[in-house]
Amino acid sequence: MSTRFFQFVGGDTGVWRVVKTHTLIGEPLLDVARLDVVAGQDNASQPDSGWLLRGITSNERYVERAEKNTLVEKQQGLGRPEATCAALIPIRKNAAWWALTQDERRHIFEGQSQHIQIGLDYLPAIARRLHHCRDISENEPFDFLTWFEFAPTDEEAFNQMLMQLRASEEWQYIDREVDIRLVRE
Ligand code: HEM
Repeated sequence: MSTRFFQFVGGDTGVWRVVKTHTLIGEPLLDVARLDVVAGQDNASQPDSGWLLRGITSNERYVERAEKNTLVEKQQGLGRPEATCAALIPIRKNAAWWALTQDERRHIFEGQSQHIQIGLDYLPAIARRLHHCRDISENEPFDFLTWFEFAPTDEEAFNQMLMQLRASEEWQYIDREVDIRLVRE
């Protein structure tokens, strides 16, 4: 059975080498040399000098049927051999965001920010998986662990997408964001 639970272990081991860690807002994460992605609940422990972030994949909250159909049509899975670059971007949203109602959040997320419309432009080049942390506990250091994989030739496009998203209304509600770039080697 496939697991919904993933652990991201920053330390000295793992198939992903950290190329760059950039804190955009909020408290930084300790710089580490490598990242290990562990599927499932077991077999991971916090490294002596590093960190461990946990998240679970979940049901979708915002996407509408027509958007979902387009996403499913265009998106690629993780683990493509040519996708040797990755980004782990842990994100936390502020109390004002969590105080909104579902329809208010959807309005900001897509009506004002066009998160899905922007993202769709970058498929199938960028593959992604969204992990929720609040489904584990409200004491996790982030609300979301976002994971992306792409070929080196698509890195520029990935950066362009980030510029668009970070300029959006939705990003006004983000109070912690760390951008960790990785290569598989
Ligand atoms: C949520 C698509 C890129 C961060 C979502 C959702 C979709 C989506 C459909 C909503 C899921 C739901 O209905 O619950 C895409 C596509 C992208 C992309 C197609 C292109 C590759 C990004 C990037 C980031 C990001 C680059 C971060 C730097 C998030 C976060 C959420 C989210 C944090 C959760 C929002 C919330 O629940 O408040 N994305 N996205 N996405 N995405 Fe993206």
